[in-house]
Amino acid sequence: MIADLTGKTAIVTGGGQGIGRGISLTMAGQGADIAIADLPSGHGPDVAKEVEALGRKAMVIDLDVTDKAQGAAAIQRVIDDWGHLDILVNNAGVAGAPGSLPTQPGRDEDWELTWRVNVKGLADLTAAALPHFKERNSGKVVNIASVAGRAPLYNTVHYATTKISVIAYTQALAKEMAQYNVNVNAVCPGRLYTQFWEEWMDNREAAGDKAVVGRDHHEVFEDALKSVMPLGREQSPEDIGAMVAFLASESARNITGQSIQVDGGQVMV
Ligand SMILES: NC(=O)c1ccc[n+]([C@@H]2O[C@H](COP(=O)([O-])OP(=O)(O)OC[C@H]3O[C@@H](n4cnc5c(N)ncnc54)[C@H](O)[C@@H]3O)[C@@H](O)[C@H]2O)c1
Repeated sequence: MIADLTGKTAIVTGGGQGIGRGISLTMAGQGADIAIADLPSGHGPDVAKEVEALGRKAMVIDLDVTDKAQGAAAIQRVIDDWGHLDILVNNAGVAGAPGSLPTQPGRDEDWELTWRVNVKGLADLTAAALPHFKERNSGKVVNIASVAGRAPLYNTVHYATTKISVIAYTQALAKEMAQYNVNVNAVCPGRLYTQFWEEWMDNREAAGDKAVVGRDHHEVFEDALKSVMPLGREQSPEDIGAMVAFLASESARNITGQSIQVDGGQVMV
């Protein structure tokens, strides 16, 4: 048992794959019912089946976090169907617009999409949940930031800017919500070879990046990781899920405004 989430309900954005799937399954394993809120093209229904196999209730919600009205409807649906919402996990995120490359300072479309999804969408969805949390004098918000928001990688200007913003948002909101007994924290994952990284590697290959062309992409990822990460191994979605589950539980009731790295020691602050 990582943390007791018995009887709790949670929404996980981007819960249909990668880190979001790991968070959903880990929290379900601790007793929470999970609403998987993801783009309609995602794998939400598959994850819902996995949650149910763990003996918990699951709900699939089609959600684009950049659509404020959809976000408000998603929150309301959980409250209407399950009676209450206890935990909001803002995990949905993008590295850039389709075709983005780490070797660019960031095209306009990369700046726009990363801001709209990673920051504004996250803040809008949270704003939709806050009246319910305030009314109940209880609630947990866990934002997925990134180690890039602590120490930017090379050439990830737009992405790092959004993730530093998530850390600042977490701190500012935590101060405002403390009077309502609402905890607001963030987790900063290090490196996980999810679709997020796969796409980045594919884009680099397509652009003729010599470090990637003709090589196994996961191997390139592993080599790069070993040079920056003391523990020398990739994190798993369940590693991130364990920290989220803890922060979402009453065991963490006196922790707020924190952004905690789960990154194999890549950043130590
Ligand atoms: N993979 C890593 O190494 C890494 C490291 C640090 C932080 N992160 C962060 O972790 C989070 C999850 O990343 P991942 O690696 O699982 O990536 P992923 O690409 O595998 O999953 C991202 C999920 O977000 C969803 N999503 C994207 N845009 C959305 C939108 N507009 N509305 C709703 N859902 C949307 C996708 O459908 C997908 O389910 C992101 O916030 C990412 O920035 C990832």
